[in-house]
Parts: sequence; C-alpha cells; structure tokens
Amino acid sequence: MIDFKFSSEKLFDQKFEKSVKADCYVMFLKSDFDFSKDLQEIERKYLPNLEAFFALKDFKGEAKSSLLMHATDKKEIFHTLFLGLGKANSEKDVKDKNDKNKKNKSLKKGSGILEIENLRRALGVLIRVVEKNKFKNIVIELPSAELFGVTEEFFAKQIATILNMANYHFDCFITTESCKLPKDYNIILIADKSRISALKAGLHEGEIIGEAVNIARHAIDLPAANMNPQDLVNLAKAIAKENKLKITVFDEEDIIKMGMGGLAAVSKGSDRDCALVIMEYKTSKKNASTLAFVGKGITFDSGGLSLKPANSMETMKEDMSGAAAVIASMEAFAKLKPEVNIICVAPISENLPSGKATKPGDIITFYNGKTAEVRNTDAEGRLILADALSYVEDKYKPDIIIDLATLTGACQYALGHFYCGMMSKDTDLISKVQKASDLSGDRVWNLPFHDDYKAAIKSSVADICNIGSPKYMAGTVTAGFFLSNFVDHTPWLHLDIAGTAFNVPDMPYYRDGATGFGVRLLVELVCNWNK
Ligand code: BES
Ligand code: ZN
Ligand code: ZN
Repeated sequence: MIDFKFSSEKLFDQKFEKSVKADCYVMFLKSDFDFSKDLQEIERKYLPNLEAFFALKDFKGEAKSSLLMHATDKKEIFHTLFLGLGKANSEKDVKDKNDKNKKNKSLKKGSGILEIENLRRALGVLIRVVEKNKFKNIVIELPSAELFGVTEEFFAKQIATILNMANYHFDCFITTESCKLPKDYNIILIADKSRISALKAGLHEGEIIGEAVNIARHAIDLPAANMNPQDLVNLAKAIAKENKLKITVFDEEDIIKMGMGGLAAVSKGSDRDCALVIMEYKTSKKNASTLAFVGKGITFDSGGLSLKPANSMETMKEDMSGAAAVIASMEAFAKLKPEVNIICVAPISENLPSGKATKPGDIITFYNGKTAEVRNTDAEGRLILADALSYVEDKYKPDIIIDLATLTGACQYALGHFYCGMMSKDTDLISKVQKASDLSGDRVWNLPFHDDYKAAIKSSVADICNIGSPKYMAGTVTAGFFLSNFVDHTPWLHLDIAGTAFNVPDMPYYRDGATGFGVRLLVELVCNWNK
C-alpha cells in the first residue's frame, strides 16, 4: 500500500529540515539541468561535493537514470535520490503537438516539453531504488505538470497509477520472508498549495487504475493450476459482486446449446468446462453509448493436439491476458463511473490435448452459422473470440467492439514487446484508440488491414480456415481477418497483445511476468469517450 500525503514546504528549504523527516528525499532533474541555478545552494547547505559526485557517477539526468546520495546532517545520515527525466522535445515537436491538439494551451517559447513516459519510467526507478534500500518514508519534490504539457490532474493520475504498478510483486508463492519486497510506503508529495486539490483528484483516479492493472497482473501471473477457467469465472464474479455489476455466466452446456462451436471445440480436450462471462456497467446518463470489450481467456494454451514445443509453452498461462484486462477494467469503470455503458465479454477455456480433443481437420460451426476448418488446434484464440464477438454484436448491439487477445506469436516478431498490434477499418475508432494509447502509455501500432489479406484464410472444405496459408505470411493480420468474419456491421477494432502482455523487458515500472496491458488503455478510452 502506498499512502500519499502532501506538504508545501520546499525540499531543502530552511524550515524543511525540521518539519518533514524521511528516509529518502527525491528530486527530478531534466538532462539539461543547470547545476549552479538548480542545485548549488543545496550543495552548499546540505549535500557537500554534490557536483563532484554527479561527475564521478556520470549522472547527467538522462531518462531512467538515477543517483542515490548519502549525506550526514548533524547526527543523522539521510539519502537524496536524483531521478533523470531526460531531454525535453525540441520546440518544433512542441509546436506540432500544440497545433494538432488545439485544446493544449501553448507553452512558453523556449520551454520544450518532456514526454510523460519519462516521468513514468523515473517513478518506476524510484520504487526499485527504495525497495532495494528498504526505505519506508519518502518525500518527493514534484516537478511542475507544465513541464510535461499536461494538467495537474492527469499528472497526478500518472504518478499514482505508476507507483502502484511499480510496487506490484507476484510473491504469494514465496515463503522466504526476506525474499519478499516491501510494499508499504508513506509518500509525501511536495507541491504548492494551489496545486493540491487537482493533484488529489488525479491521485484518486490513478490509484483506482493502478489497482485494476494489478488485479489483471495477479490473475495472469497465477499459474494455470491456480487460475483455471472456473477460477477466472470466480474472479469475474467477485469483481461483479464487490462493485454491484450485473454478470451472466454461461457454462459449457449452455455454450453448446447456443451453438458456440468455436468455444466448445477448444474446450473439448480439457476435463474442465469452458465458460462465457458477460459483465455489464450501466451509466445513469440517458442515451449513452454502449462499448463492448472482448478478451481472450485461454487459461493455458498447450496448443492442443498441435502441441507447442516446450519452450513456447512455458509462459502460456499468459494466454488469458485479454480476458484479465477486460474483467479487471470493469472494477475501474465501476469506481470511476464514466458516462457510457460497458459490456465486457470473456470466452474462457483451456486448450489441452486428449483423446477427446478437437483434431486438425475437424470442421466447426460458430454462433453466427459460419464454419471453419481447424487445421491447427494452436490457433484457438480466434475460435473462442469468434463466438464471443458475434454473440455480443447480436445480443447487445453495442456502438463499438474492441477485442484484446494474446493472439499470435507473429505479432511478437513483428512489433516486439513495446507496441501491440492494432487492426481496424474504422478510422474514427482507430484515432480514438490511438489517442487513448498516447495518453495512457499502453502503446498501439496500427497495422495494415486491407482486404488483400482475406484470401489467406480460404478453405476448400469450410467457409474459412483457422490458419493463414503460408504464402501470405503476416500471421497477425490474417488472424485479424479471421475475426472480421464475426463482426457484421459494428465498428470493431482488434488488439493483438501477444507481445505486450508478459515479460516486457527494460520497463522500470514492470517486472518479469504480467504487465496488465490494456487496462490503462481502456480506462483512458472510456473516460474520454464523450470528449
Ligand atoms: N497464444 C498463442 C499466441 C501467443 C504466442 C501468445 C506467444 C503469447 C505469446 C496462440 O494461440 C497461438 O498459438 N498462435 C499460433 C497461431 C498459428 C498456429 C497460426 C502462433 O502464433 O504460433
Ligand atoms: Zn495457441
Ligand atoms: Zn493462444
């Protein structure tokens, strides 16, 4: 738990020494900081040889860099942590950004703005340093929100979201207490009095978002033995109950009866039942839009009879990351109360081999009546999503549909871990999602989605085939085209999160394991929907 408090007494001020005591004082520095202007006074009064120490450690305020300085103040030793924010964008970039978004108030000439992502990463580094040094009470001198070209509220939202995300550690199976990391921090944020009420509002939202991200991460990080289809259903039920959301759960029998041949086919090899979870958030606002979010919920993907090689299977507990993101986001929506209606749909199953499993060559019929040849049982995500997409369009008639799925290894190859693949034909929806991505830090990359790729999934024995013909390549896009058969007329956007959901390297606010990708994006999208 992170407990936030405020103080308006500037760090290293005369009075400060006596009023705010802490294990660690934190200051942010841009890479073009001016030592004589920004730090000389502090060096003289409190931190002797600071400039020489910066030089010795080659600390220049670069993004993701940090420097911890120990100093003595009369009897006590205290620590000061300097965090690098990197370089501001050039004035030209700033002008372009302001021209694009006229609402952004123009910045003073000569200022340049810093990417808010640099602040996020610096905050991630902050948590890594304090956990290593076992600090508990931390005082942070906040930079101005203007430095990043954002409002105070947005700025504080990022701070609380990221500090909570960075503080997440999947440690429930670690029995050696000393290997568990500390989680409780008292943080005092130093800011002028005039900023505090806006900052408080942002912190509150950020805490809600950070918690939702961490709920998704915990569900994903749990081994498949502890997060089987029923466990994931139970998580959705618990979130619904706690937040008074409507929830409907269809079991395997219902699914077969409703004609959801894709979900049923994937579940055949498992002794455990599949499920379809539908959660609903309703706003009190009249005539509000209805947004549907669909998430792939394969609690373990062995590949089925088209068995994966051992190393590709190692992390396949992550294959319910889409479902975890949409389910966990519902908790944030229930608390943030956006003025839209939201339908969350999660088709949930295991993908295992057995004597009863679906076999390569089998032909299945989906909820919307279309048929597919299953040439590879490892391309199972599209089969369960097919039924979920056509069901939600048919029954709920939403204004838009977005699905999130760890769908293809090809997406990892194409984009790596830092961007997910985005596919849609609806330019309005693309730009809305792109904007939410720019704001939230969950990064999307728009992939080509032209009908030329459609021919890749032709079948000679059924309407379509569940894998693309190798001569077309582009496995991520052809998987997207498979899904396009199951959305008839609703604006729809597909996010392939195979690369961004798990084991993303080099991000100080993540760790090995789940990232909760998609939660921040959906929350930002929903909260800005009517703007
Ligand atoms: N769950 C995998 C995709 C995946 C790969 C997710 C790596 C996360 C990390 C998916 O079900 C799958 O196995 N896809 C196959 C499709 C192929 C058989 C056409 C793949 O990508 O190899
Ligand atoms: Zn698979
Ligand atoms: Zn899968």
